[in-house]
Amino acid sequence: MITESTISNAERKMLSEAGYGDPAINYYLEKKYMGTIENADIISQKIGSCGDIMKVYIKIDDNNIINDVRYEITGCAGAISAAMAAVDLAKGKTIEDALKINDGDIFKVLKNIPEKKHHCIQLAVKTMHKGIKEYKIEKAL
Ligand code: FES
Repeated sequence: MITESTISNAERKMLSEAGYGDPAINYYLEKKYMGTIENADIISQKIGSCGDIMKVYIKIDDNNIINDVRYEITGCAGAISAAMAAVDLAKGKTIEDALKINDGDIFKVLKNIPEKKHHCIQLAVKTMHKGIKEYKIEKAL
């Protein structure tokens, strides 16, 4: 019988053989920060060079600290795992510190991702940074 766990084990094996590290695979399978935030302070979208689309929702408190982030993604496993890792790095940080998160930081969290997927990390970072920059302009910060 084919069960959910058979499918995720097969997917896990396939991703591992493709060059995804275990943390990257877990982020992709769990997709724990996928979705939207009602009353988000930031909603921003970016389209990657590959045509994939990312939309970010960010909730910011009065001290400019990021309380929550969610992504909606039409894209690959690399994009999803990178965006989920970006959320773990950004949550609890000030918007200024979140702007310092770079591709290398995400790569370290994911442990590994195929080389041809490195632009997916860029898309996750750029989408978040774009939203924060728009917020700063709007609030004159
Ligand atoms: Fe487009 Fe990964 S291939 S974001």
